Amino acid sequence: MTEIATIQNSFDVYAIREQFPILNREVKGKRLVYFDNAATSQKPQIVIDALSNYYSNHNANIHRGIHTLAEEATAAFEKTRDTAQQFIHAATREQIIFTRGTTEGINLVAYTWGRQNIKAGDEIMISTMEHHSNIVPWQVLCEEKNAILKIIPISDDGELLMDDFERLLSPKTKLVSIVHVSNSLGTVNPVERIIDAAHKVGAVVMVDGAQSTVHLDIDVQKMDCDFFAFSAHKLYGPTGVGVLYGKKDLLESMPVFQGGGEMIKEVTFEKTTFNDLPYKFEAGTPNIADTVAFKSALDFVSRTGKSKIRAHENELLQYATSQLEQIPGLKIIGKAKEKTSLVSFIIDKTHPQDIGILLDNRGIAVRTGHHCTQPLMNRFGIPGTVRASFSLYNTKEEIDELIIGLQKAVKMLA
Ligand code: ALA
Repeated sequence: MTEIATIQNSFDVYAIREQFPILNREVKGKRLVYFDNAATSQKPQIVIDALSNYYSNHNANIHRGIHTLAEEATAAFEKTRDTAQQFIHAATREQIIFTRGTTEGINLVAYTWGRQNIKAGDEIMISTMEHHSNIVPWQVLCEEKNAILKIIPISDDGELLMDDFERLLSPKTKLVSIVHVSNSLGTVNPVERIIDAAHKVGAVVMVDGAQSTVHLDIDVQKMDCDFFAFSAHKLYGPTGVGVLYGKKDLLESMPVFQGGGEMIKEVTFEKTTFNDLPYKFEAGTPNIADTVAFKSALDFVSRTGKSKIRAHENELLQYATSQLEQIPGLKIIGKAKEKTSLVSFIIDKTHPQDIGILLDNRGIAVRTGHHCTQPLMNRFGIPGTVRASFSLYNTKEEIDELIIGLQKAVKMLA
């Protein structure tokens, strides 16, 4: 057994890698090293097979047919709802709304709950480290309603300044929408403390779980968030599927999002009555095949075990951090005490994009740029970073290749 394989007794990274066919491909004549997992994860064969099996054997529209294929497709689609409910420990399956992804989940809340509840002078609070998808919907809402957007500042290490957050809270705060794990810094935010404090002033809390759900155990009841959104594609599932969880009383009292088939009980030209949860928010034919395959991704994570995955990813994070810190002129952006497995950095006298291109020439995929967090980059006074984000199938040997690639890039560019 190799060193990595023994990190956790029963976690064999090489056996895991065999389940991801794309990891066998070459890029620019080199074996692919995929370190862009925070953008999207690769897919195990079981997810690819589920997609193919759905289209080969069961494809039909759901919820409306009485024929066998329609019943099979509906059952498979609804099974994913049950699995997602268990995965985030929601109390009921009706609280699992399928969306296109985290962005749509946040927009759904902004366009429905937000438009119903936010009035002139109200305050909505987000943080400096939000992804654009957790900034723009609230900005649009604030402009429309003459409400005020307040920003929780962060430290130089990339941690929320919690005293400032508590000072900013007031009875005017109607909503706090906060990222659970920063896509640019890896910071894990203390969401339970934030939710508790926000609830004390009567605010509703939305948690952006796009980056956290793949790494951390999620228990929405224990967390006590009012809304939680996440995406399948960062969780080894297909693109174009996500989940919005909400507390039942909130979801029930919210106006509808999109109008169309499926979300109605009865339509006349005079009046339409709306369907019950969760269908009230699922207008039109959904992304059936990808939702069906998403179940296989969730089962894959549960079977592998989040605590084993986390231990492996933490080991990679510690190793990468210590190796990167030895490169002269390299500065890590985001040094929070609680981090998931990603490292963002800049290197003196180099541009992140040039580093990214030189790494790609060696088959190493990283993300470069502002990572859809321009206000965060402004906070650090930089245009962007190089970001290497690690997943359960990555190895220390791959990190060694990154380090060699960076050393060569620095020699060429600096
Ligand atoms: N939000 C994704 C990322 O951080 C796309 O790369």
